[in-house]
Amino acid sequence: MELKTIGTIGAGAPVQAIASHAARAGYPVLLSNSRGPDTLGDTVAAIGPGASAVTFEEAAAADLVLLAVPFSAVPAVGQRLGDWTGRVVVDMTNQFAEPDPYRGFADVAPLTGSEWVAEQLPGVTLIKAFNAMFATFMARDPRHEEGNQAVFLAGDDEPAKLALAQVVARLRFAPVDLGGLREGGALLQLGGPLSGKHFLLQG
Ligand SMILES: NC(=O)c1ccc[n+]([C@@H]2O[C@H](COP(=O)([O-])OP(=O)(O)OC[C@H]3O[C@@H](n4cnc5c(N)ncnc54)[C@H](OP(=O)(O)O)[C@@H]3O)[C@@H](O)[C@H]2O)c1
Repeated sequence: MELKTIGTIGAGAPVQAIASHAARAGYPVLLSNSRGPDTLGDTVAAIGPGASAVTFEEAAAADLVLLAVPFSAVPAVGQRLGDWTGRVVVDMTNQFAEPDPYRGFADVAPLTGSEWVAEQLPGVTLIKAFNAMFATFMARDPRHEEGNQAVFLAGDDEPAKLALAQVVARLRFAPVDLGGLREGGALLQLGGPLSGKHFLLQG
């Protein structure tokens, strides 16, 4: 499996950070938000060549889809497509109970946050990644003098996770496989031991 195009559902600061790295690495990046492509002109211009503003449906049809909306908006996103079979989606969400400002904890136990997100997107191939990092750190060149910024991945579909790891490495991050969506996701989710932590890996 090779992931050649990147779509985004949500176009806030964390998406803009990854989109900039991805566009520089040569990926077409298709950004979408809730208000429509007409509102993304400045964002796309700031990212530069390779980025474009598209509809939700066009973004969701990319080889790799970054999902970065408020946790409370995930059910509405899931319903817009209904069937997510064959879609490889990166869950960048954090389970805050409320957005703007993000606060509280949406407890979906016994599910982990990403297991719950996967339930809202029936059929999806979901990988949790990029949620645990601050957008300001993500925006920096991932290659530092001391090492490359680590990106942790958790998911149950090994070929998809491997393909995502290849994209992550091409963006100059250092991918680290944490295992399945349940056990790896629990480490990465809001309140987990890796949430909000940043690591540089030599190698
Ligand atoms: N900020 C960070 O440092 C950071 C880092 C990693 C992960 N995260 C997580 O990533 C997610 C987004 O964070 P953010 O800081 O980018 O939030 P944000 O600034 O509030 O942006 C949210 C984005 O989601 C879009 N959106 C909201 N509801 C939608 C819907 N129903 N359908 C399609 N798009 C929708 C918004 O579009 P409109 O603007 O058109 O409403 C906006 O582009 C959150 O779950 C957050 O916890 C944040």
